[in-house]
Amino acid sequence: MEIPWVFIVFGSWLLALAFVLKLFNHPKRKLPPGPKPWPIIGNLNLLGSLPHVSFHHLSQKYGDLILLKFGSKPMEISWVFIVFGEWLLALVFLLKLFNHPKRKLPPGPKPWPIIGNLNLLGSLPHVSFYHLSQKYGDLMVLKFGSKPVLVASSPEMAKEILKTHDIIFASRPPLAAGKYTGFNYSDMLWASYGAYWRQARKICLSEIFSPKRLDSLEYIRIEERQTLISRLFPQSGKPILLKDHLPRFTLRTISRMAMSDKYCSDQSNSDTSIATLERLQWMLDEWFVLGGVINLGDWIPLFSWFDLQGYVRRMKALGKNFTQFYKYVIDGHNATKMQTTGDFAPKDMVDALLHISNDPNLVVKLTSDHMMGLINNLLAGGTDTAAATIEWTFQELLRRPNIIDKAHHELDKAIGRERWVEEEDFSKLPYIDAIIKESLRLHPLCALLPPHYSIEDCNVAGYDIPKGTIVYVNAWSLGRNSKYWDRAEEFIPERFIENNIDIKGQNFALLPFGSGRRRCPGYSLGMKLVRTTMANLLHGFNWKLTGDMRPEDISMEEIYGLTTHPKKPISVIMEPRLPLHLY
Ligand code: HEM
Repeated sequence: MEIPWVFIVFGSWLLALAFVLKLFNHPKRKLPPGPKPWPIIGNLNLLGSLPHVSFHHLSQKYGDLILLKFGSKPMEISWVFIVFGEWLLALVFLLKLFNHPKRKLPPGPKPWPIIGNLNLLGSLPHVSFYHLSQKYGDLMVLKFGSKPVLVASSPEMAKEILKTHDIIFASRPPLAAGKYTGFNYSDMLWASYGAYWRQARKICLSEIFSPKRLDSLEYIRIEERQTLISRLFPQSGKPILLKDHLPRFTLRTISRMAMSDKYCSDQSNSDTSIATLERLQWMLDEWFVLGGVINLGDWIPLFSWFDLQGYVRRMKALGKNFTQFYKYVIDGHNATKMQTTGDFAPKDMVDALLHISNDPNLVVKLTSDHMMGLINNLLAGGTDTAAATIEWTFQELLRRPNIIDKAHHELDKAIGRERWVEEEDFSKLPYIDAIIKESLRLHPLCALLPPHYSIEDCNVAGYDIPKGTIVYVNAWSLGRNSKYWDRAEEFIPERFIENNIDIKGQNFALLPFGSGRRRCPGYSLGMKLVRTTMANLLHGFNWKLTGDMRPEDISMEEIYGLTTHPKKPISVIMEPRLPLHLY
């Protein structure tokens, strides 16, 4: 709270008190008649240069005995408050006028009272931002309610935020989603920049996503890939929706790597499982939806009391479900560890986290909220992102069957038709790599990077950005910037051949994993999943559209959330193309 606001609140409080006093504290007295007094001056305005003549004229109107007020005499207690309150308010405005060095803010639309610019957001905020940026520029400022929101829409401005001033913008805003579904800002996604977040990232990068750990879990990825293929094979020749198979496959793979497969199963009748995969899938989907909503209570504090959209109610319910599930998972792992004799060797990612949580040298002790938040990040981060990336890529490929032919040609040449594609084969498949990069350019899963938050005042590209500004980097518009991408709207994988364009955060025209301190820590696991699944689905099957659907009929409309999905998933027919004994 800035000092002038303290005055405003105190001044208004005094004024309110004065009126209450006037209302209740004034015993009804019968006073002689007289003219109505003005505030402060009373009836002094009625006095001319000859007061006795003025009194005479007034007595003609009000009678022989009249009561006037000279100023506020007799001064009443309520008037003391009114004068003092008004004086404070005047002081506030003077302070605001003179004490505020003029800040040069980026351009942006004029905000409405109360709602700010929230009326300008459509159902796809990244597209609304893109259109606004065409009018107001690559760095613009909007107001959501009363809060400033900075939007960076070009590679140059993304670089300013995520590289030049990375440390200032490396925090996250305190939104309701982080409070209720991020275990009170204890997960890595919603934690503010500080000692805990730094420690959590270090643990994840060195222990959870280390090449050694990922290699040790490769057998799970292979088994689950084979399960996916064996499930798809019997559907050959029949219409299917990829959406019905991919999220389940990524969830099974990630949940086995993160916490083994005994806590959730296909059916709820197993001894150790507490939830079905379907239930866990629903919880994670809900997490992504609620993480991306524009919850009015976050922006207009008055609305947070009413939760008109019902989002906070859903967040609280989801938080409870997660807590119940993850407590069970942690207790189960602890129990297994207790029963182990000799040296304990972590078998999955939760084991590894529990092992580290006992390290006496940790800067911040890991609480159960921290543990639950981090486990949730592993499950959520790896499930939806990889599945939706593969789905988007097939939507694009089915619009251009000649690209599928080229991919088949590459696979036949590099792998042959007698085996499946393994992770180590990937360097031999540059065209498939180019397809995936092109898909991530046009369909970055986080169309808007999760919000960043400034922890200090700073100057970006000549504009003053105050501390506490929420920042969105529009990854969707970076990939469509015509200065960097020729025929930007077209799907052309060839643009990535032989130029080694980076997707890990060094090239600011392509940021599917973000950049800087907050960039995705799960990059290598995510890409392992996407690459081998894409390659094997292409390798193992021929693909065509169902019925009389034509490639140009495929809709590329989106549904917005923390991650963006195809609005109308397409129905496809797959036919095996490898020898049958491989399925
Ligand atoms: C294709 C796969 C993936 C994509 C496209 C992706 C994309 C992203 C993006 C864009 C961000 C935000 C960066 C920013 O705020 O600037 C992010 C953050 C994050 N991702 Fe990923 N991700 C993927 C896979 C994964 C996987 C497999 C995991 C974990 C198992 C994961 C865990 C996380 C976490 C924990 C964060 C938050 C980092 C922080 O705020 O410090 N992601 N990811």
